[in-house]
Amino acid sequence: MKRLVLSLALACFALTYIGAQAQGYPTRSATVIVPFAAGGPADITGRIVADIFTRALGQQFVVENVGGAGGATGTTRVARANPDGYTIGLGHVGTHAAAVALIPNLAYKPDVDFEPIGLVATQPVILTTRKAFPANNLREFVAYAKANESKLNMAHAGVGSVSHTFCLLLNHEIGIKPTLVPFTGTAPALNAMLGDQVDYVCDPILGPLPHVRAGTLKAMAIGTAKRHPALPDVPTSAEGGLPNFQAAPFYAMFAPKGTPQDIVDKLSAALDKGLDDETVRKRLVDLGAEITEKKDRGPKPLLALVKSEMARLTPILTAAMAK
Ligand code: MLT
Repeated sequence: MKRLVLSLALACFALTYIGAQAQGYPTRSATVIVPFAAGGPADITGRIVADIFTRALGQQFVVENVGGAGGATGTTRVARANPDGYTIGLGHVGTHAAAVALIPNLAYKPDVDFEPIGLVATQPVILTTRKAFPANNLREFVAYAKANESKLNMAHAGVGSVSHTFCLLLNHEIGIKPTLVPFTGTAPALNAMLGDQVDYVCDPILGPLPHVRAGTLKAMAIGTAKRHPALPDVPTSAEGGLPNFQAAPFYAMFAPKGTPQDIVDKLSAALDKGLDDETVRKRLVDLGAEITEKKDRGPKPLLALVKSEMARLTPILTAAMAK
């Protein structure tokens, strides 16, 4: 009985303490975990969002890159962090949907272990090759890949990442099993491709855009229904004969489960307002991102999207892995 009373008293104290903390939130700097290497699409997006929070909430939001396991290492850290608003994280369709099918014993449940803060943007995926790759368009890529499967190297950001997930589906569609070369993010994967060490990467547009524009990497196709205004010369996958290669992964912000509602509301409102800021919008759009429409941004639409993407991708990926 004494123990029960003590436990209840401690629980009450913890709730009161977190509640009191929430009132003046934030009173010190906070960490934004980006679960991939610096310089890639997740990192660039995470830094733009960290800036939004810093300016809106008056305390530093500092990005920490925690790469590894296709984003699962950093995302697990967010799930297990103290739910006080001082550790939040960036996630995407890989960490918060595809990973469920691709990583056995994933340490978190994307739709249960987080308080969704809000969607940021979608970032269409481009199939990019090294400059000297012996194909100049998607049809030539498919023909070459089929004929040279055994010497083909595909780089990716770890099992369950966006670059792994969507190239896996592409490989399945073409009917090839290349050698897979994992990195802690697509920034180091693109560096390896710039150095001619790997053949191709399926990276969200923020990564390859400057290299494709500079002619140092070649874009075979973009996984969208229409050509992208930032790279109008890059054909769509349908133009290249593979209409099923469609990939516009979402990037979003999450807090650990149990983060007080008023803190989540503050973060969510700051993100929403920040995404309407003209400078922020121009920055994201110039990089090729498609900012999520206002009505689809908040915690509820994000949770619904996590659930629907898990339901959509799990059977497709399970089937692709089985073959
Ligand atoms: C990154 O920033 O490295 C990418 O978003 C990783 C990925 O492929 O998911």
